[in-house]
Amino acid sequence: MTQKRILSGMQPTNQLHLGNYLGALKNWVDLQNEGSAECLYCVVDLHAVTQPYDRDNLAKATREVAAAYIAAGVDPAKSILFAQSSVPAHSQLMWLLATMAQMGKLDRMTQFKDKAGKNAEKAGLGLYAYPVLMAADILIYNATHVPVGEDQKQHLELARDIAATFNTRYDVEHFIQPEPYIMGAGTRVMSLRDGTSKMSKSAESDMTRINLTDDADLIAKKIKKAKTDAEPVPTCEAEFEGRPEVKNLMTIYSALSGEKMDSLFAQYGGQGFGDFKKALVDVAVAHLEPITTRMNHLMETPDEIDAILQKGGEKCNAIAQPFLNRTMDIMGFWKIQS
Ligand code: AMP
Ligand code: TRP
Repeated sequence: MTQKRILSGMQPTNQLHLGNYLGALKNWVDLQNEGSAECLYCVVDLHAVTQPYDRDNLAKATREVAAAYIAAGVDPAKSILFAQSSVPAHSQLMWLLATMAQMGKLDRMTQFKDKAGKNAEKAGLGLYAYPVLMAADILIYNATHVPVGEDQKQHLELARDIAATFNTRYDVEHFIQPEPYIMGAGTRVMSLRDGTSKMSKSAESDMTRINLTDDADLIAKKIKKAKTDAEPVPTCEAEFEGRPEVKNLMTIYSALSGEKMDSLFAQYGGQGFGDFKKALVDVAVAHLEPITTRMNHLMETPDEIDAILQKGGEKCNAIAQPFLNRTMDIMGFWKIQS
């Protein structure tokens, strides 16, 4: 059987939020601690420059995301942590894969449509090709599993598709088709203000999300102001109908506490939202405060984070470069004889 290898990444843009944590990061830690796979977690800084960004802050933001990974439980002794840009083979493989990524499929990518907005004509090639770089991130390590939130499903499909196209075109079993791991209760955490749009780093109002850097007071304020309705807390699934904000809050509670939804219906169903929200604040603060504290602590010693990223980058280059060379051999490129 193929050795299980896990790879995932997040962009160093803005603050990480509860959606990133529940949809991805928490699962990364669980998978690492299961101990049955090699885990590679990267900060995808090359993806972060596909949209306007702050050059003076990019390196710091990369460190900060690495600190968030560690603070949430990614252990550099068990997993490899690295910055995407420190492993050139990602970008090099991307070019090769770009020759196999169909425009028709890229045209259908919803994340591009969302990010490009009305002005798609002016969007950069990098934003359009973003999913091909993501495919390269995964395929350069022949990762077998990719833990991500629901919104990345389409990108994963493309990566699988590209892997299959390569294998067919060159008649080889070179790339493994990676499986998405979309797991846990929080695969799609929604905005605190609008239950029909996902919690996102880029939403204008900070009140729509809980950031991993928010302190207890701010978390309490955001949950208190989170949108609900005049009906009582639901007593069963059916009562979520037409109430996406309420469903979202209860899902967050369940995902953070590990309690089943039925147990929440039994405890809070039929009451006003006051007690439920108070309990949700407690659960959220208990879970997130230690992460925030650790993150702030880690950021006091940026050299240590740099050393971890440096070591991770070296390990990844040692895996990725020979694999890129093999890929180029398969494609028939000329090479310097060593
Ligand atoms: P990004 O913020 O786009 O770099 O996303 C990093 C990871 O967090 C990806 O695996 C996403 O699928 C996941 N993610 C982002 N937003 C959410 C959300 N609202 N709910 C669940 N997962 C999310
Ligand atoms: N596209 C992912 C996101 O927006 C980030 C990402 C880039 C990624 N490369 C990856 C996730 C490789 C998993 C594996 O969230």
